[in-house]
Amino acid sequence: MWVSLSIFTIILILFILFKDNNFAQASIALMHEDKSVINVGSKVYAVNCASCHGIKLEGQKDWMSRLPNGMMPAPPHDETGHTWHHSDKYLFMITKYGIEKIIGEKYLNNMPAYEEILNDKEIIAVLSYIKSTWPPRIKKIHDQINSRSNK
Ligand code: HEC
Repeated sequence: MWVSLSIFTIILILFILFKDNNFAQASIALMHEDKSVINVGSKVYAVNCASCHGIKLEGQKDWMSRLPNGMMPAPPHDETGHTWHHSDKYLFMITKYGIEKIIGEKYLNNMPAYEEILNDKEIIAVLSYIKSTWPPRIKKIHDQINSRSNK
């Protein structure tokens, strides 16, 4: 009796976790056409990201060359960078958890993890703001990257 009850409980917990997880994944979609989201996002950007990625999303000087300490400068978030090469989910995960956690290996870098600074809505908003600044051609390619990727 107790055994079957605990098995039942475990299955129930797994089911709930799985459902939540699916929900979280399904809800990671940038809202770059929603003006109110973009407004919030531009403020989040100015306070949290502009100091490194640039007020105009231009990135740091010589962003493709390593700094003397071996780390990379912050890349631009405009069309000249490679932010748009990545899916919504990947960008969300990098911003929330940082690069090391997402690539799963030791990699010293200057990109902070925002897990304890921004909530999920703010992360979606800031990335939506970034996407809203891209030219239509880049937005379209990015939409295609999203539809191909579940990463
Ligand atoms: C302290 C400086 C700093 C701040 C502040 C910062 N970043 Fe970064 N970010 C970096 C650096 C440096 C990299 C590149 C790291 C590397 O590749 O070694 C990076 C990389 C990224 C990438 C990956 C880009 C790509 O094409 O691979 C994303 C996405 C990103 N940052 C988003 C953000 C967002 C959103 C914010 C604000 C919420 C932010 N960053 C704030 C320094 C910063």
